[in-house]
Amino acid sequence: MAALAGLLMIYAKSAPAAGPSQNVLDTGSRLYGDSCGSCHGADGAGVPGDSPPMQNDPLVTGNPVTLIRVMTQGTAKITSQQEKSLYTNTMPADYHLSDDQIAALLTYMRHDFGGNASPITADQVTQVRKQYGGFDSNQP
Ligand code: HEC
Repeated sequence: MAALAGLLMIYAKSAPAAGPSQNVLDTGSRLYGDSCGSCHGADGAGVPGDSPPMQNDPLVTGNPVTLIRVMTQGTAKITSQQEKSLYTNTMPADYHLSDDQIAALLTYMRHDFGGNASPITADQVTQVRKQYGGFDSNQP
C-alpha cells in the first residue's frame, strides 16, 4: 500500500512536467496583457501596419535564445529590416521584468499562440542576459 501511494505520488509529481502549470500560464497571460498586448493585440493577432502578429510566429515558437534576446535587447539586431519596414511602431527593449516574469510571459506565448512549444525557464533567461548583456538599446 505504501509502495502504491509512493508510486501515485511520483506520478502526481511528474505529471505537470509535460507542460507549464496553470499558475505560470495565468501569470504569463497577465504580464503579456500589461506589457505587449497594447501593440501585439490581446490575443496576439497583431495590428496590420502597426505591430506584427505573435500567433504562429516562428520566432515565438523557435529558438528560446532568440526569443529571450528580442525581449531583453529589443528587436534591432534580431528582426530583419524587411520585417521592420512593415510596421510603424518600434518595439521597446527591457521591460524591467524579472527573469521569472520573462520566463512566464514567454512560456505563455509559446503555449497559447499556436505552437505548444517548450516552456522557457528563468535559468534560460538568466543565461541569455549573462551572455548577451541585459539591455543593448534598440539601436542597430
Ligand atoms: C510599442 C509597441 C510594442 C510593444 C509594447 C511590444 N512590441 Fe513586440 N514588436 C513591435 C514591433 C513594431 C515589432 C516589429 C518591428 C521591430 O522589429 O521593431 C515587434 C516585434 C516583436 C517580435 C519579433 C517578431 C518577428 O517575427 O520578428 C517579438 C517576438 C515581439 N515583438 C514580442 C514582444 C513581447 C513579448 C512584448 C511584451 C513584453 C512586446 N513585443 C511588446 C511592437 C511592440
